Amino acid sequence: MDLQNDDVRADLSARGYSRRAIGRVFSLLAAGAAVGPLVAPAAYAQTSAAGAGPRPQPKALIGANECWEGPLEPGARAAAAAISGGNRYTGSERADFVNALASIENVPPAYVMAWPGSSDPLSRIIVTYCSPTRGLVTADPTFELAESVAKYIGAPVKRVPLTADHAHDVKAMLAADPNAGIYYVCTPNNPSATLTGLKDVEWLLANKPAGSIVLLDEAYIHFSDAPAGAYLAAQDKEIIVLRTFSKLFGMAGMRLGATIAKPALMMKTMRYDGGMVSYALPTPSVVCGTASLLAGDLIRQRRAEMLKVRADTLAFLDKRGLAYVPPQANFFMVDWKKPAAEVRKAMAAEGVDIGRSWPIWPTRSRITIGSAAEMDAFKRAVVTLNL
Ligand SMILES: Cc1ncc(COP(=O)(O)O)c(C=O)c1O
Repeated sequence: MDLQNDDVRADLSARGYSRRAIGRVFSLLAAGAAVGPLVAPAAYAQTSAAGAGPRPQPKALIGANECWEGPLEPGARAAAAAISGGNRYTGSERADFVNALASIENVPPAYVMAWPGSSDPLSRIIVTYCSPTRGLVTADPTFELAESVAKYIGAPVKRVPLTADHAHDVKAMLAADPNAGIYYVCTPNNPSATLTGLKDVEWLLANKPAGSIVLLDEAYIHFSDAPAGAYLAAQDKEIIVLRTFSKLFGMAGMRLGATIAKPALMMKTMRYDGGMVSYALPTPSVVCGTASLLAGDLIRQRRAEMLKVRADTLAFLDKRGLAYVPPQANFFMVDWKKPAAEVRKAMAAEGVDIGRSWPIWPTRSRITIGSAAEMDAFKRAVVTLNL
């Protein structure tokens, strides 16, 4: 794609950016990955709660919502086989991936773009559709990357509390900023692990202002039995669906994700770099994703394994009288009724790396469902610490 920088500068200027801010956007996108300079990694939970210094060898890594094991077996085999061809750029493998996802989601292949995870498209979508005059409306609590990027580019942000049953309050979201650029809906929501019904998403699409989009983040959809929102993209609604292979597919370190949307919506996000990142993907990751998508039985098996371990863990919490938000994903928020940051530190000293809390819920920690052995270590630590 032709890099029409002057057009882009003019567009940003018309949208209320100062020259300085435009310069920052350009240098950010030239760097290739919006997340790096924007967000301190510690904010996104990949660090040890034990503090600085070498990471101890924890007994349980249940803090970052990763899968407890690596890629599904056919994916791992395909990736291993692709390594010897690693001298070549990714070729038809990318189209195979796009076709596989498009046929599973019942959308035209042109509606699917591949990415190294979902953080890159999430960031570029915010940079494209938000601006100082078109804000972001997000939930509280939710995954904060959208908010961090919006703040960095000077877009106003409105956080709207979840409803009593922990769904996104779509009517309150629209009322909070009737002229926003993006309404961000994460379902199942990180960190509450709760669902927002697609009827609510449809309502938002029907009532949102012209020129805005709904960004539907389905990072954890494979762990729930909720229907997916791709059909809304197939109907050419102004929605971009985000998918990642970092969760059920066990590929967080391999980096693969996808967007599903009518092509014009994503083209707009690629004016700066021609979407280069979508094409220059690691071939082992791409073939791993394709083989994994086609392994329906193994996907269901992995999900069932998570549900079994989750039920056992929640039964343990029930017995101890520890409250939690009923989850629809591979994690849950437990309420310790005391500062969660202290509990996280104490758990880390027991070799159990749990997740963080959110400012709106300072006494709750996010716990990822790990392997049965990891969750046994979690349960032992809860007993030892008398929580
Ligand atoms: C809701 C949500 N969206 C997006 C991401 C980004 O993940 P990745 O870049 O690994 O796809 C995460 C990661 O935890 C997440 O929880």
